[in-house]
Amino acid sequence: PEAITVQELANRMAERGADLVKALFKMGMPVTLTQTIDQDTAELLVTEFGHAIKRVSESDIDIDTSEDVDAPETLKARPAVVTIMGHVDHGKTSLLDAIRGEDVVSGEAGGITQHIGAYQVSLPDKSRITFLDTPGHEAFTEMRARGANVTDIVILVVAADDGLKPQTIEAINHTKAAGVPMIVAINKIDKPDSKPQKVREELLQHEVIVEDMGGDVQDVEVSALKKTNLDKLLEAIQLQAEILELKANPDRAAEGTVVEAKLDKGRGPLATVLVQRGTLRVGDVFVAGASSGKVRAMIDDKGRQVKEAGPSVPVEVLGMSVVPAAGDAFTVVENEARAREVASYRQGVLDKKRTTSAPVTLENMFANHA
Ligand code: GTP
Ligand code: MG
Repeated sequence: PEAITVQELANRMAERGADLVKALFKMGMPVTLTQTIDQDTAELLVTEFGHAIKRVSESDIDIDTSEDVDAPETLKARPAVVTIMGHVDHGKTSLLDAIRGEDVVSGEAGGITQHIGAYQVSLPDKSRITFLDTPGHEAFTEMRARGANVTDIVILVVAADDGLKPQTIEAINHTKAAGVPMIVAINKIDKPDSKPQKVREELLQHEVIVEDMGGDVQDVEVSALKKTNLDKLLEAIQLQAEILELKANPDRAAEGTVVEAKLDKGRGPLATVLVQRGTLRVGDVFVAGASSGKVRAMIDDKGRQVKEAGPSVPVEVLGMSVVPAAGDAFTVVENEARAREVASYRQGVLDKKRTTSAPVTLENMFANHA
């Protein structure tokens, strides 16, 4: 019988791994996140959590995950992946741009930074942070529903002159549901009518308790416009990242998620892939959603050609057969025959989903079509 790790099942159910462990414990099965459970137990859990099975990701149903756990000794520290969320006009783009300006590397190179949907900032102490260009709440939720939990930390931007607004509250709810830690950036403090303390009080009403109010959510007063306290914000991210002890095995076939994709007139289908474990190399054969291919070239966020990309590194990948979708799983496979097989199987699932609205079943979620 096929098996799945608790973590993997949690990802597919878009639930917190800890909640699954708790439920299993109650069912008399003390297991850890990295241990595998059988299909019957998984089915039970899914029922327990009241999931419509169609919420479960179908994007990688045919990849056998039973032996897919990295041993603890193979894990190495990796940069945090950060997403910025918040209400319209509260300064998400301005803050991203301002932070990007802090990048010691792009500052030195002085080159043209290209838009690839994600970028890395190198700090003076040589550590790095990966930022995903704010994908909007819908994209965040959609990715999460598909089991693609790419974000380690959410920066919630709240304009100090405007306070909490509907999309701020939405962002808080999405972040909580995803079980991702949050840092609050109270923005626009240069404005004379800014009221940062009022923001903290409003957050309290939504059970976001910042440190000043006796809670454990870090908050930083910033001005994206005047570039005030950006260093403090980066420090807060680093501190949060340290607490999370983010690690991945760089020495294996790469796996990641498509964060952005498009058809380029000259270069064909392009996708920005965030590598999540393993190292992606030019020449690797891969499947990305219903697309497959061989990495022809990779371009980093500074517009440079690179030969390899490790965990938490975003790269633009050339060599796709068709344009994949944001949120698609990206997986390096052993050969092109296997890649085509997996991709065409996925295409079949997508076609079927389009014509019937039949939900994906647990059976095909576990099936190994190799
Ligand atoms: P959407 O992408 O439309 O949701 O907006 P956004 O959250 O990305 O906000 P954006 O960065 O576009 O900023 C909105 C407006 O607020 C712009 O006019 C910015 O110049 C202004 N703004 C952003 N940050 C600050 C700040 O720190 N201080 C002041 N005074 N204005 C700011
Ligand atoms: Mg914006």
